[in-house]
Amino acid sequence: MRVTINQIKEMKQKGEKITMLTAYDYTTAKIIDEVGIPLTLVGDSLGMVVLGYESTIPVTIEEMLHHTKAVVRGTKKTMVIGDMPFMTYHVSVDDALKNAARFIQEAGAQAVKLEGGVTVAEKVSRIVSCGIPVMGHIGLTPQSIYQFGGFKVQGRTPEAASRLLKDAQALEEAGAFSIVLETVPTALATLITQRVSIPTIGIGAGVGCDGQVQVINDILGSFTDFVPKHAKQYAKLTEIIRTAVTEYDNEVKAGSFPTDKQSFSMDESILAELVK
Ligand code: KIV
Repeated sequence: MRVTINQIKEMKQKGEKITMLTAYDYTTAKIIDEVGIPLTLVGDSLGMVVLGYESTIPVTIEEMLHHTKAVVRGTKKTMVIGDMPFMTYHVSVDDALKNAARFIQEAGAQAVKLEGGVTVAEKVSRIVSCGIPVMGHIGLTPQSIYQFGGFKVQGRTPEAASRLLKDAQALEEAGAFSIVLETVPTALATLITQRVSIPTIGIGAGVGCDGQVQVINDILGSFTDFVPKHAKQYAKLTEIIRTAVTEYDNEVKAGSFPTDKQSFSMDESILAELVK
């Protein structure tokens, strides 16, 4: 049985911290699941850390569904959350519902995430009313990067802070089961966490949130185009991969790979017959 939204909500009530990580492929998702991470997000960060786009804007729903399916295949226990990409929930409530349903019905996810607060509350409410759990996402929402004018800390002015609190409350009221708070001052994220009954999952929002989410490539040190301030590298995978690839290249060139250990033999008489 996979982790449920009720279990996630109970974790907040019990004061248990909630861990969430992104995953985009079968192999990585399998490890995350085996470790026991309760929430796995197939984030549209896929566009930047896997597909090489400059932002999350170009990511399509087909790309998201393709990777969500792989993550679902690699997992048994974690709740898989599909991130709704840019323009798949903006045009109309019906459109948002149809696209959310694709994540559940076609890709096998158990929940969806979408960006925004007050402005998407009606859509969240409709999606939830059809039985699809929704995770909200406010603060620095990367799909609005052109509106923000860059990757900037959100909620630092009195108006912006009050807007974020209202956004969180609107999501709670609309029936979201949790909210990602991205790049928000620690004190504001802590206040929002205290003011809503659903769990907050922070990324660059300090330790006062109910849980934390990180992009898996950031914590593994496998995406080095830029390293966000909120990320901590628990490994330096790029260096490990570079060393392995270089060693392989050297051995192929030198003829020292493959050895008998990586090769296959055949009956010598068959070969002799063939040579004749
Ligand atoms: O796309 C993503 O990975 C995200 C997380 C950073 C929350 O939205």
